[in-house]
Amino acid sequence: MPISTKFVAILLALAVGPSAVSVVAQAQDDASNATAMTLNETMMMMIMTESPTEEVIPSEESIQVEDEVTTPAPTPPPTDAAMSFGSVSMTLPPRTPSPTSSSSQPTSQPTGPPPRSCSTTPVTQTEIQTIRQAIETVIDNANVNMAPKFVRLGFHDCVGGCDGCVDMSDPENAGLEVPIQALQEVVTTHENECISRADIWALAALVGADVTQSQEDFDMVWVGRQNCAGVTDPMSGPVIQMPSADMDIHGLLGFFNDEFGFDARQTVALMGAHSIGKVDEDNSGFVGRGWDDDEEELDNDYYQQLQDNVRWNQVNANRFQWEGGDGGSGDADEDGIIMLNVDIALVRDFSGDMGSDGRVNCRFRNGGGGGGGGGGGGGGGNNRFVRALQNNVCPNSSTRSIVEDYQDSNSQFLSDFHDVFNRLLVHGYDTSSGCSTTDPCRFAGVPQEGAQVSVGRSGNPDDIFF
Ligand code: HEM
Repeated sequence: MPISTKFVAILLALAVGPSAVSVVAQAQDDASNATAMTLNETMMMMIMTESPTEEVIPSEESIQVEDEVTTPAPTPPPTDAAMSFGSVSMTLPPRTPSPTSSSSQPTSQPTGPPPRSCSTTPVTQTEIQTIRQAIETVIDNANVNMAPKFVRLGFHDCVGGCDGCVDMSDPENAGLEVPIQALQEVVTTHENECISRADIWALAALVGADVTQSQEDFDMVWVGRQNCAGVTDPMSGPVIQMPSADMDIHGLLGFFNDEFGFDARQTVALMGAHSIGKVDEDNSGFVGRGWDDDEEELDNDYYQQLQDNVRWNQVNANRFQWEGGDGGSGDADEDGIIMLNVDIALVRDFSGDMGSDGRVNCRFRNGGGGGGGGGGGGGGGNNRFVRALQNNVCPNSSTRSIVEDYQDSNSQFLSDFHDVFNRLLVHGYDTSSGCSTTDPCRFAGVPQEGAQVSVGRSGNPDDIFF
């Protein structure tokens, strides 16, 4: 039985008793995939029509459909175990003794602690603080610059919805095994019914941003992210298309708008994450160090490097990348500072002038750095005649003025980054219920309709994510 179908069967067993399991089993035994599919689709429809304001918390307690209760039983007080799938409402009655038991006492005691109720024992800031400190210890003890790796992991995990899983067979995810493995012990120690691995990864991303600057507090505002289902290894997560480094400004803005609903300003602010960390040839094929002089500080230096007077040249060092940044001195140097096409795209519009290999056929600036030369492009969205007169300089991008804003104000950048990074780390979840307490809020309901975290990102409708 496919894992996801097993999961549906278990959920149905919890919901309507063993008869539902036999229906699914029968469907499997008959090799009637259509029947099983219908059940899954029905479950998915039920999930997708879930009211976003109602809280749904999977529980190991038995679940009974109200309609099927024939003998009056004391109505349990509403708990976080109350469930509603579309028009079918389910509540969790107290456990009843076995019918074969002669006494009113259960014959066997449950082993282990009962599952934690996230409503009666909610996650507190104290608990979050303990996990934060464990993550900071990992950063402090690492023999690599770990904070940027946690920030990158947070971004990659949240493409398609933050679900504590990435697909390491995707080359764009190369290198993420380092932060994932570094966090493994924290996850093993602190994951529970109310704090998932996906929460801990998001928290690590927040800590990564926190320790690399001092202006903003990257607090954990939301918990309750749900790990991808049907995957035991978080590194073999569902397949999802990650963005390429070889995008022009239209591709970049389109990606962040389609995936996260972010506008141009939010996109430009988010890309400032490249002010920390570095590239690694073994991962991405890019050769060099990173994007600015201080790879340990989250600041606006990244935008300073994108000033007009910097002599950025596109070179083919294993793959096409831009070299020559030096804090605005204008000298091409060998300090290892590089930019990717997606970075240069924030100030230069080379749409129509980039080949499929990333080669850009226009120059960063007049009289200075040039593009990769020859070969690139196709189409061409800007006036080539004017460009020829201007020494084939790429025109400015629509986002250049936003970059200038951040060049002028580190404080503005950090404030905007703080806002958009928090939004990124709740991608796929409904945050509309408000968050007024001092302790972290829990997401209301299942992952949002349309968020790929709720439906298998492999494109297989059998993959239902909880
Ligand atoms: C389309 C957008 C993006 C592309 C194509 C992209 C691409 C890349 C690439 C190729 C690397 C080098 C990886 C390596 O060689 O190990 C990298 C590193 C990094 N990226 Fe991005 N990135 C994008 C957006 C973002 C965003 C939105 C964030 C966070 C908010 C982010 C955070 C980072 C960080 C912190 C590093 C350094 C990691 C380290 O030091 O190991 N990136 N990115």
